[in-house]
Amino acid sequence: MGVLLLVLLYAASTRAAKTYTITTTWNGGAIDHKPVQLTLSPSSDQQYLELSIDAPFFNDPPSPPGPAGQAFYGLWNYEVVEAFFLNDDNQYLEVERVTIRHSLPLEVTTQRNPTTKSWTGLAKIPITYLPPTVTKFNAYAIHGSGKDRMYESLYPAPENASNPDFHALQYFQPINMSELLPDQPNAPMSELWEDALQGVFPYNITTTWNNLPVPNTPVQFTLQGFQAGVELNVTAPFYNDPAPNGTAGQPFYGLWDYEVVEMFFLNDNDEYLEVELGPWGEHLLLLLKGERNTIKHSLPLDFLVTERTMPIENKPGIWKGSAMIPPGYFPPNVTRMNAYAIHGVDDARDYQALHPAPNNDPDYPQPDFHRLSLFRAIDFEFQLSNNSEYSDVWLDAMASSSTTISVGSGHKALLVALLSLTVVGAAWFAGSW
Ligand SMILES: *[C@@H]1O[C@H](CO)[C@@H](O)[C@H](O)[C@H]1NC(C)=O
Ligand SMILES: *[C@@H]1O[C@H](CO)[C@@H](O)[C@H](O)[C@H]1NC(C)=O
Ligand SMILES: *[C@@H]1O[C@H](CO)[C@@H](O)[C@H](O)[C@H]1NC(C)=O
Ligand SMILES: *[C@@H]1O[C@H](CO)[C@@H](O)[C@H](O)[C@H]1NC(C)=O
Ligand SMILES: *[C@@H]1O[C@H](CO)[C@@H](O)[C@H](O)[C@H]1NC(C)=O
Ligand SMILES: *[C@@H]1O[C@H](CO)[C@@H](O)[C@H](O)[C@H]1NC(C)=O
Ligand SMILES: *[C@@H]1O[C@H](CO)[C@@H](O)[C@H](O)[C@H]1NC(C)=O
Repeated sequence: MGVLLLVLLYAASTRAAKTYTITTTWNGGAIDHKPVQLTLSPSSDQQYLELSIDAPFFNDPPSPPGPAGQAFYGLWNYEVVEAFFLNDDNQYLEVERVTIRHSLPLEVTTQRNPTTKSWTGLAKIPITYLPPTVTKFNAYAIHGSGKDRMYESLYPAPENASNPDFHALQYFQPINMSELLPDQPNAPMSELWEDALQGVFPYNITTTWNNLPVPNTPVQFTLQGFQAGVELNVTAPFYNDPAPNGTAGQPFYGLWDYEVVEMFFLNDNDEYLEVELGPWGEHLLLLLKGERNTIKHSLPLDFLVTERTMPIENKPGIWKGSAMIPPGYFPPNVTRMNAYAIHGVDDARDYQALHPAPNNDPDYPQPDFHRLSLFRAIDFEFQLSNNSEYSDVWLDAMASSSTTISVGSGHKALLVALLSLTVVGAAWFAGSW
C-alpha cells in the first residue's frame, strides 16, 4: 500500500514538473561551475506555480543593503537568478532571486549551504501574477562584481550580440503551460495585471497600527502616475468626526488630529514626502529629511473630495477624494512607502496602518507613523519615470532649512537568501535590465 502510494506520488510529480538547467553564458559561452537548476511545478490546488532553484552560492557581490524580507529595487545588481514568463503580447512576469525580499507578496523558503557553497529556494508564485496565456520562458543567473560580473542564460543570445539584455524577448523559447497549469491558457487577465498594465497600484489598509484586523470596511487607495504627477485616489469610511476649521482645497496644519488618510513616500536617504488628506477637502503635505525632521510643510495641492455620505447610526458613510501630487514633491529615488488612516476622538481614536508594527511588541508601545523601518517597497519607477534627481522644490526646502539632519535609521542588512518579484510590461522596461 505504502509503495503503491509512493509510486503514484512519484509519477504525479514527474508528470507535472519541468526542470531547466542554465548551462551557458548570456551569449552561449561555456560556464565554469555547477549550473543553476530551476524546476517549475503546479501546487496541488493549482493556485500557485512553484519555482524551485538550486544554485551555486558565490556570495559576490555581498547581500544588498536594506531590511531582509522585503523588496529591493535594484536587486539585479546583486547575485540573482531570474525567471521570465512571457506571452504572445510581450507581457511578462519576472522573478528575481538573490541571496529575502519581495515587491509583490510572495511565499518563499530558502536555504544556504556554506559547505557545498550552494543555495536552494522555493517560491510560490500566485497564478494571478502570471500574464495571461504564457507561451514563452527564459531564465538567467547573474553573479560576480565589476569586470568579473557573469551573466548566464538558459536560452542565450547569439555569440555576436552586443550586450547582455535579459529583456531581449526574441531569444525566449516556448513553454507549454497547460502541461503545468491546465487552466492558465484560457484564464482571463487577472485584476493585478489589468491594474499593472494601466500603472494603477491598488492598496487596502486592512490592519490597525499594531497589526489587528480593522473592524470596518478598509480604506482603499490607488496610485497612478501621469506626466502631471501621481494621482492618489482615496475611498474611505466616513465617520463624521468633528471637522477641522479649514477651507476645502487648502492646506491645514494639524490635520493629523482629525479624520485623515495619510501616505508616506520614502527614499534610502530617509527623505520623505508625507501626504495627508481629509474628508472635508483639507490637505497637508510635508517634506522631511531624516526621521520626523520636517523641512517644509503646507505645500499647495490639487485635491478634490468627490463624494461624502453621512454615517447612519453606527454604520460609517463613505468619502472619496482624488489628489494630483506633482512630480517635484517626491524625494529622489523613492523606494519604500507606508499609509495610514486615523479617525475617532480622544480615547476612541483608531490608528490604522498599511504596513503595521508587530502586535504586542515592546519596541512598538504606541502608534508612530514615522517608524521608517516598517515601510515597504514600492516600484516607484512605474509611477514616476523621472525621479532620480532632487527637484527644485526639494532643493529650495533643503537650502532654507538649517536643521541638522539625521540620516541612517539603523536598518542593518541581513545576509539571507533574497527574492524579489516584479510584474512588468515589456514597454516599460525597454533597454534596461
Ligand atoms: C550576428 O550574426 C548573425 C548571423 O551571422 C547576423 O545575422 C546578425 O546580424 C549578427 N548580429 C550582430 C548584432 O552583429
Ligand atoms: C501542450 O500540452 C497539452 C497537455 O499536455 C497538450 O494537449 C497540447 O497539445 C500541448 N501543446 C503543444 C503546442 O504542444
Ligand atoms: C481591496 O478590497 C476590495 C473590497 O473588499 C477588493 O475588491 C479589492 O480586491 C482589494 N484590493 C486589494 C489591493 O487588496
Ligand atoms: C481617480 O479619481 C479620478 C477622479 O474621480 C478618476 O477620474 C480616476 O479614474 C480615478 N482613478 C482610478 C485609478 O480609480
Ligand atoms: C475658524 O477660523 C476662522 C478663521 O481662521 C476664525 O476666525 C474662527 O474663529 C475659527 N473658528 C473656530 C471655532 O475656531
Ligand atoms: C538616484 O539614483 C540614480 C541611479 O542609481 C543615481 O544616479 C542618482 O544619483 C540618485 N539620486 C540621488 C539624488 O541620489
Ligand atoms: C527630471 O527631473 C529633474 C528634477 O525635477 C528636472 O530637473 C529634469 O529636467 C527632469 N528631466 C526630464 C527629462 O524631465
